[in-house]
Amino acid sequence: MFHEKFAEGIISAKQFNREDIEYILKKGKEMLSETNSNLLKGKILASLFFEPSTRTRLSFESAMYRLGGNVIGFHSEDVSSIMKGESIADTIRTVENYSDCIVMRHSLEGAARMASKFARVPIINAGSGSGEHPTQALLDLLTITEEFGSLDGLNIGLMGDLKYGRTVHSLSILLSYFDANVYFISPVELKMRNRDKDYLQQRRMNYKEITDYRKILDTLDILYMTRIQKERFIDLEEYEKVKGLYIFRQDDLANTKEKFRLLHPLPRITEISSDIDESEKAIYFKQTFYGIPMRKAILAELMKD
Ligand code: NCD
Repeated sequence: MFHEKFAEGIISAKQFNREDIEYILKKGKEMLSETNSNLLKGKILASLFFEPSTRTRLSFESAMYRLGGNVIGFHSEDVSSIMKGESIADTIRTVENYSDCIVMRHSLEGAARMASKFARVPIINAGSGSGEHPTQALLDLLTITEEFGSLDGLNIGLMGDLKYGRTVHSLSILLSYFDANVYFISPVELKMRNRDKDYLQQRRMNYKEITDYRKILDTLDILYMTRIQKERFIDLEEYEKVKGLYIFRQDDLANTKEKFRLLHPLPRITEISSDIDESEKAIYFKQTFYGIPMRKAILAELMKD
C-alpha cells in the first residue's frame, strides 16, 4: 500500500496522512533491531547532492549499504554535467537508467517535484531549497516517539528560522496529524511563511506564534531548535541582525521539565551552547542515530519488489 502510494517517491510531507506516518514509523522502529541484511541486494541508489550535506547524504548511503544495496552519485554540482549547462531534467532522465531510486538535494524549492516528473524510479527529496525536507521530519518523529512513546498531547516548540528552514516546514505538516500543542518561536523577520501557515490552518492545526521562548519554556516537552539559514538570505545585513537572537544555554536548561528534550536537525552553529551537549536532555546526536533506521525503512519500502 505504502509502496504503491509512494511510487513516485517522497517529495513532500503533504503526501502523508496519519496512517502513512504511523506505518513508516513502525517500519523505522523495526529497523532499529535489524543490523545488516540483504533486503536491497542488487539494488542501486543514486545519491545526487547539489547542495552541501553531512548527515542526510551519509545516512542515506549508509542505510543503503546496510541493506545490502549499492550507491552511485555525486555530492557537488561542480563534478556533474550540470557544470556544463545540463538541465536537472536531463540529468534525472539519465540517472534513472542507472538506478532503482534517486535521493536528491537541491537549492531550488521545486527541484525534487520537477525531478519526479522525469523519472520512472522513486525520487526522495533530501532537501529542496527553503521548501521541505520530509525524511528529516520522519526521523525527527521517530526520535520523539522513541523518547516519549507517543506524539499526542505533547507541547512542542519549533524555534529559529521558520521562514527558510525546510526541516520545520515538513515537521509541522507531519505534526498537524497529531494532537500536539505546537509553538512557532522565531524573530518576526523569520516567522513561518503565510503559505505554510495557510496549509496548517486548513488542517486545523493547533499552533501559536511567539517570539520569546522563555515565556513557555517550562511548559515544553520538546524544543526543536534550528539554524538561521544564512545561505538563503538575499541581504547579509538582515542575517547579521537575527543571527545571535536565540542561544540556548545552561540557564535555559535549568528552567525545563525533567522529561524535556532538546532536538536539532544539525548542523548547529551558535544557537545551542556546546556545554549542554552532555545533558541527557540534549538529544540531537541521538537524533542523528535515528536517521539510519528511518532511512533504511524508507529505502526498503520504496525499492521493494
Ligand atoms: C538541515 C538541512 O539541510 O535542511 N540539515 C539536515 O538535513 N539535517 C538543517 C540545516 O541545514 O540547517
